[in-house]
Amino acid sequence: MIRLGVNVDHVATVRQARRANEPDPVAAAVLATLGGADGITVHLREDRRHIQDRDVYVLRETVTTRLNLEMATADEILAIALKVKPDEATLVPEKRQELTTEGGLDVAGNAATVRPAVGRLKAAGIHVSLFIDPDPGQADASRAAGADAVEFQTASYSEAVGADAVGRELEKLRAATAHAVGLGLHVHMGHGLNYWNVQPVVRIAGVEELNIGHSIVSRAVLVGMERAVREMKAAMTEHYPLVKKPAT
Ligand code: PXP
Repeated sequence: MIRLGVNVDHVATVRQARRANEPDPVAAAVLATLGGADGITVHLREDRRHIQDRDVYVLRETVTTRLNLEMATADEILAIALKVKPDEATLVPEKRQELTTEGGLDVAGNAATVRPAVGRLKAAGIHVSLFIDPDPGQADASRAAGADAVEFQTASYSEAVGADAVGRELEKLRAATAHAVGLGLHVHMGHGLNYWNVQPVVRIAGVEELNIGHSIVSRAVLVGMERAVREMKAAMTEHYPLVKKPAT
């Protein structure tokens, strides 16, 4: 069974809208776990727009499954990661103006910064994953940088319009996964996955983990976190009668 990492950043986004104490991403993580999440994912951005340092430290104490810290290779964030020691660190590119992570990390073009960051995290016993485009060359560079895993960005797949374009993006994900598995890398996927587009990704041989945030938290606002996660776990299986795609 493929693991589901639930990204609770958006819960912190609501809290930060008022610089208040609620809703607490830590509470959301507990409920997500009760709903069947196999891990909790948070992105400690340099601009601290949603997740705060306190969240990461408290989650380290309270997450009973796996804590995955998404992060840039900035020295300050790296120092926090080395202190917190998440089960996994996922290195992502970060731009201040972006709404969310846009595109994968250019590992091939940034080996000089990525490689030492991977080395320091691994030396601390942290499993390291690199968020990259579904491109065999980036998988090769990730292997060379010493990563344990790659997370292929599924934004291009989830934003594709029309059966042909969707099929092409799925084929890229499939080929990149086969290539990465051949290199001995673990394969994760994430970005833009939702209740309606997740199944074809689940069926790609070799995928071990999905990281999903926006669609789960959006549903959780209406039906509660525990139910939203349970429904995503069901959507990841072959038979899922609960969710109907809205008419377009
Ligand atoms: N994986 C990575 C590396 C991400 O940066 C994000 C967004 O924070 C996700 C997965 C989750 O994407 P979404 O919120 O679109 O499900």
